[in-house]
Amino acid sequence: MEEYNQSVDNRIYDTAFVKNLFNDMSKTYDRVNYITSFGFSKRWRKQFVNEVTLSEGDVVADILTGMGECWEFSLNQIGQTGKIIALDFSEGMIQHAKARKDKLRGENIQILCEDVFNSSISDSSVNAVICGFGIKTFSNQQLQKLSIEINRILKPGDIFL
Ligand SMILES: C[S@@+](CC[C@H](N)C(=O)[O-])C[C@H]1O[C@@H](n2cnc3c(N)ncnc32)[C@H](O)[C@@H]1O
Repeated sequence: MEEYNQSVDNRIYDTAFVKNLFNDMSKTYDRVNYITSFGFSKRWRKQFVNEVTLSEGDVVADILTGMGECWEFSLNQIGQTGKIIALDFSEGMIQHAKARKDKLRGENIQILCEDVFNSSISDSSVNAVICGFGIKTFSNQQLQKLSIEINRILKPGDIFL
């Protein structure tokens, strides 16, 4: 039983497993998220993004962006001169993110379909890194790697939330 639990525990951190999971869930992710949080998920995202003090023209990396659920709150702060770099490795989620980008007329949103551990985001290039509901699918070891990656892309002294 313990062995079984361990193999299930490890599987939930497996990259291919997580990617397939989100590809499958992409059809209903936003609806399920909204319903199971009794509508609070939108408010929670707004509250968390508003904790980051952004300025007009800032560059924000929204890692594990999903369908871009956090964008509207950052866009309010960074304006037309700022930029969001939105990264996710699930093609399913990215497809919905692209539709959201079109709807928002988000010409200043760059979507990257990439693994966060192997991203093309340049060193010291962003003013803030945000991640909504993202890190729960990572093991402690992966979280350590993620913190190194976040530190790499952030400009010195800037913020991760
Ligand atoms: C729970 S969703 C969060 C989506 C969104 N940020 C939100 O506020 O709802 C987690 C996202 O992380 C993505 N993800 C998980 N591991 C990843 C990795 N190693 N690289 C890129 N994206 C990853 C999944 O595809 C999924 O879209």
